[in-house]
Amino acid sequence: MQKVVVSFRLFKEWIEFLKDNGFEVIAWDSSVPPSKEWIKENIKDADGLLCSLVNRIDREIIDAAERLKVISTFSVGFDHIDVNYAKSKKIRIGYTPEVLTDATADLIFALLLAVARRVVEGDKLIRSGRWNQPWTPDFMIGTEVNGKVLGIIGMGRIGRALVKRAKGFNMRVIYNSRTKKEVEAEFVDLDTLLRESDFVVLAVDLNPTTYHMVNRDFLNKMKRSAFLINASRGKVVDEKALTEALQSGTIRGAALDVFEEEPTSLDNPLIKLENVVLTPHIGSATFETRQKMAEVSVKNLIAGVRGEKMVFEL
Ligand code: GLV
Repeated sequence: MQKVVVSFRLFKEWIEFLKDNGFEVIAWDSSVPPSKEWIKENIKDADGLLCSLVNRIDREIIDAAERLKVISTFSVGFDHIDVNYAKSKKIRIGYTPEVLTDATADLIFALLLAVARRVVEGDKLIRSGRWNQPWTPDFMIGTEVNGKVLGIIGMGRIGRALVKRAKGFNMRVIYNSRTKKEVEAEFVDLDTLLRESDFVVLAVDLNPTTYHMVNRDFLNKMKRSAFLINASRGKVVDEKALTEALQSGTIRGAALDVFEEEPTSLDNPLIKLENVVLTPHIGSATFETRQKMAEVSVKNLIAGVRGEKMVFEL
């Protein structure tokens, strides 16, 4: 019997699906990720691994596997996997792009609108009993989104989905990416993007070139009236530099779905700032999308073990 390891709490019906397909399944069943030792021990004689972004799949784990054919991740991001090393050992990698593009782009727009229009601040104001004045023209003034400049860094699937949504808000869209793309937006260099954008959205993956890409220098180049939106990976942003920029008025605000450390701690000074909207890494978190991610990642796993074509392979 071929054996697969699932190193995060996957929906029960997909565990059953794997068993119905004839696999022996060793599945982790807690929201707290397993230890490295647990993965190493169980991966030893496994044919496939289904992991998520909370499992760091490094050389040590890959070396512990004696007959692993595939690592399938329940995510579009793959910065938690030593991809090159796995590939050098002929281990295939599956991931889940496309199925989460729209959900993630929607969340990015939700964050953008929320921070621009002070939605969360308003909510907190009411709940804390501080809404103690009648309507006035100057109360809770935010920033107009319609007609503004959206600067997208990275132009993959999510970048393109953002362009479509931005058109509905009559935004001018500029972007910067490694290469110029066929897309209804204007390619500009990074400095121009930072100088001209009212909203800067990060739509890049985390890799050595994007690690702490948003640093003090980057933030200083943005407009003082601009907002930063990040639903990519927390480590793309130097949170210390961002906190200082938000405190000193270097930029107007930020909306973050991802953090350098997750879950982020209550000691994170970003949490104290009114001009920041925070969500707990929920970019792809809709019922429909998570079901599709489960389906794709399970099918990738099975195809990888059987030496067949995967739905999405890196
Ligand atoms: C989520 O962050 C993902 O990479 O799918």
